[in-house]
Amino acid sequence: MSADAAAPNDLESNWLPYTPNRQFKREPRMIARAKGVHYYKPDGAEVLDATAGLWCCNAGHCREDIVKAIQDQAAELDFAPTFQFGHPKAFELASRIASLAPGDLDHVLFCNSGSEADESALKIALAYHRIKGDGGRTRLIGRERGYHGVNFGGTAVGGMVANRKWFGNLVAGVDHLPHTYNRAEQAFTIGQPEWGAHLADDLQRLIDLHDASTIAAVIIEPMSGSTGVLPPPKGYLQKIREICTKHGILLIFDEVITGYGRLGYAFAAERFGVTPDIITFAKGITSGTVPMGGAIVSKQIYDTFQTGPDHAIDLFHGYTYSGHPLAAAAGLATLDIYRKEGLFEKARALEPYFADALMSLKDHKLIADIRVIGLAGAVDLVPVEGVPGKRGFDTMCHAFHHENMMVRVSGDCIAFSPPLIIEKAQIDEIFGRFRKVLDHIA
Ligand SMILES: Cc1ncc(COP(=O)(O)O)c(C=O)c1O
Repeated sequence: MSADAAAPNDLESNWLPYTPNRQFKREPRMIARAKGVHYYKPDGAEVLDATAGLWCCNAGHCREDIVKAIQDQAAELDFAPTFQFGHPKAFELASRIASLAPGDLDHVLFCNSGSEADESALKIALAYHRIKGDGGRTRLIGRERGYHGVNFGGTAVGGMVANRKWFGNLVAGVDHLPHTYNRAEQAFTIGQPEWGAHLADDLQRLIDLHDASTIAAVIIEPMSGSTGVLPPPKGYLQKIREICTKHGILLIFDEVITGYGRLGYAFAAERFGVTPDIITFAKGITSGTVPMGGAIVSKQIYDTFQTGPDHAIDLFHGYTYSGHPLAAAAGLATLDIYRKEGLFEKARALEPYFADALMSLKDHKLIADIRVIGLAGAVDLVPVEGVPGKRGFDTMCHAFHHENMMVRVSGDCIAFSPPLIIEKAQIDEIFGRFRKVLDHIA
């Protein structure tokens, strides 16, 4: 077909990810613009964003300073390679991120998404051991119900069945810790459950099974997000840290959701008082405006790579768009907003109000459990018998079409993670509208 042939402007060509496409194209959920805590449908209807887009727009939508920074950057420097070259804003942003990170995590490798961040961290862990002469450490340990993006490594260490089962054997030499959720012991807990620290001992069992000398890294989300907001049991992360340290295994925290204020701190590592060896991030670094991700590594890891001849590349990994100028500019402007408006502290202050508002749904007959920590919460809905996922899907659709609200669905679980600029009245609005949705669906 010639380039100027008329193209049909219909919905068919776009294959949406993680979406039932036939249903969507029959009854689209279309977003035309955004401002603050709202999206707008093409007909102008205002939609309350109860999910910060996809856990990313922590500073709210279309913030003028971020928009301007991106516009100015596009006019000044559109692209610069970061293989063998550099541009100032990527360095400035890396320094700013390092200053927010805990402990001695002070070097940042940029990429463009959470999936790439996790892939980068896993590869860094493998190469790190090899450089140290410990190349037998190739095994990667993830956790059931974990989500580490969609690339091969991340899918392999991930623990959500539907994300794994279609894709064959993935990466060899992977094992999984048990997840930490137990409804009988933890139902309707606000914050970290008391029950479950002992589940960290399973790491010792895996070490006894495989031998520490074969294990490179453990990767976990400090709070599992995609599987429905599972805060870590009290003491669990501390135990995991101790066991990793004892056996020379690198600990990676996937903070793609928890990074940049979701739990009231720059990173969940700070909130939980546990410092991993690598933190991965994405989403909130640019408040979702320009794709960006990264891996923050400890000085000790970075220094381990700095041993070859002066002209030799130290890490054979990276992306064309690592540290892209537009993303770097957006990242700097976003961090400025977080700091100037004290958004991490604001999230922390709002946490009890948000938790109480979410827990007020407890009496509804469709609610099976509620979990909440920081400005992240989730409700498990009572499933439609024999049709898993239908209740959750119908709830999300009804919320959008009839209550003008965006919520996140994962099976029969609905998650809430509003922009950190949310006000108390808007939190009331979210859960008031959600109750109406539940009443309708019931
Ligand atoms: C914890 C975690 N890791 C990784 C990812 C993947 O990020 P992306 O979709 O940007 O590749 C996500 C996405 O939601 C996530 O929640």
